[in-house]
Amino acid sequence: MNEENKVLGTSTTERSIMAAPVIDQTSEEIQSFGTRFRVPLGLDDTVCETSISNLNRVLADTITLRDLYKKCHWQTSGATFYQLHLLFDKHFSEQAEIVDFLAERIQVLGGISVAMAKDVAEWTHIEAPPMGREEVPAQLSRLVSAHETIFKFVRQAAKTAAEGGDDGTNDVLVSNVIRTNELQTWFVAEHLVALSPTEVNNRHQ
Ligand SMILES: [Fe+2]
Repeated sequence: MNEENKVLGTSTTERSIMAAPVIDQTSEEIQSFGTRFRVPLGLDDTVCETSISNLNRVLADTITLRDLYKKCHWQTSGATFYQLHLLFDKHFSEQAEIVDFLAERIQVLGGISVAMAKDVAEWTHIEAPPMGREEVPAQLSRLVSAHETIFKFVRQAAKTAAEGGDDGTNDVLVSNVIRTNELQTWFVAEHLVALSPTEVNNRHQ
């Protein structure tokens, strides 16, 4: 055994063994998904439980929309490639920020946030796109539709949170989710206006 192996082997000193990382550790879950512990926020239990459930639904949809933007960023094509490639990535980053706000709000309320792709796929209500590539107008339409799926649920969820006194959840849902999604919908939908960039539309003359 050379000097280096001695350091790594059983003849090491106790001091160097303590410095080694302890890997391959496993654990039982310390909190199951769907459970909640009471956090002293001055909110009713039922209000917290409803907020956690609604936030997880919005979270799953937001993770899906975030990933849909990255798919579109990679797979867009044609004359508008450059501007859409950049726009889609900007929207991806903004959705990623919302994902963090939503997930951490759930944890603040004592719940467990949905996180991994397999679980997100089960929870989301956004229609799954094909694995392959779609034409640009189909990409844009799919994104607008995904935003609307979020709007239909999140507006009611925000109202429910406000009525229960959960202002923090209401604020995340309104200030972050609704406001950002409205702006993004505008930017995407404007690309679906069928006007020529080089000829005036004289259809009504
Ligand atoms: Fe990229």
